[in-house]
Amino acid sequence: MSEPDTDPEATDEAVSSPTPGSDLAAATGSASGSLIEEPIIESKDIDVFYGDEQALREVSMPIPEKQVTALIGPSGCGKSTFLRCINRMNDLISAARVDGDLLFGGKNVYDDDVDPVALRRKIGMVFQQPNPFPKSIYDNVAYGLRVQDQEVTDEIVEEALRGAALWDEVKDQLDESGLELSGGQQQRLCIARAIAPDPEVVLMDEPASALDPVATSKIEDLISDLAEDYTVVIVTHNMQQAARISDKTGVFLTGGELVEFDDTQKIFENPEHQRVEDYITGKFG
Ligand SMILES: Nc1ncnc2c1ncn2[C@@H]1O[C@H](COP(=O)(O)OP(=O)(O)OP(=O)(O)O)[C@@H](O)[C@H]1O
Ligand SMILES: [Mg+2]
Repeated sequence: MSEPDTDPEATDEAVSSPTPGSDLAAATGSASGSLIEEPIIESKDIDVFYGDEQALREVSMPIPEKQVTALIGPSGCGKSTFLRCINRMNDLISAARVDGDLLFGGKNVYDDDVDPVALRRKIGMVFQQPNPFPKSIYDNVAYGLRVQDQEVTDEIVEEALRGAALWDEVKDQLDESGLELSGGQQQRLCIARAIAPDPEVVLMDEPASALDPVATSKIEDLISDLAEDYTVVIVTHNMQQAARISDKTGVFLTGGELVEFDDTQKIFENPEHQRVEDYITGKFG
């Protein structure tokens, strides 16, 4: 099976095309008695099927604005699938079918009048493997703006690189290829590319798992900073990382069930479910 979430074509498409779409975030958030008063994103009874195989079961999760929400759980439990529901990247997988509501700013992103390309401008994505394009550092950052027909200025490119904590390292080599950077720098370049069009939400699927500890620690610092301006949803296999950087944690377990969602501290110190405790303490998974 090919890895859809590391396919450069898919990434390309995710940030491409102009955005004549509706203003998805115009509506107000919905509360509905969840533990977060006005989540920017809220999934309600999301099921995902790949053909006959069910990958997610009735997943309901409120995601708070301008915080870091971590998604953890064993391999194959549906974390990437859930992340891809949020900006409709599963649309690019022909076998995938999504049921249920996924509200962004109170609007269901699966409504017929939602343009997925416009949605992905507001909800950007960063993948496990750094995937800069074979272009200059400058053009990598400008790419997301150009395909959206947004203005490219040196100031915007600098701001995105500063936002990704990369500016100081690359400011004298903006014309050099993005592929010549180290893995950790490439991943920060991809983050700069994702934030250049000024999205509201940044989805990250194991963004540091291909990096060494020093580069990982830089990405972790960066994620905490990003949450001042953006809502961050991050999938990670690294439980210490989830505990360090996230405000809320969702635990998926085998079968595609979201077993528990709560403040990160509560999940790691006093989870409600024995299965979650067993997973967190390494008894399985
Ligand atoms: N493109 C696809 N086609 C068919 N089945 C898929 C596809 N992508 C994922 N699946 C299946 O859906 C289930 C959930 O997969 P998913 O990749 O979301 O899990 P994950 O929690 O992200 O796992 P990992 O930690 O290994 O990345 C798995 O059974 C997987 O085989
Ligand atoms: Mg995954």
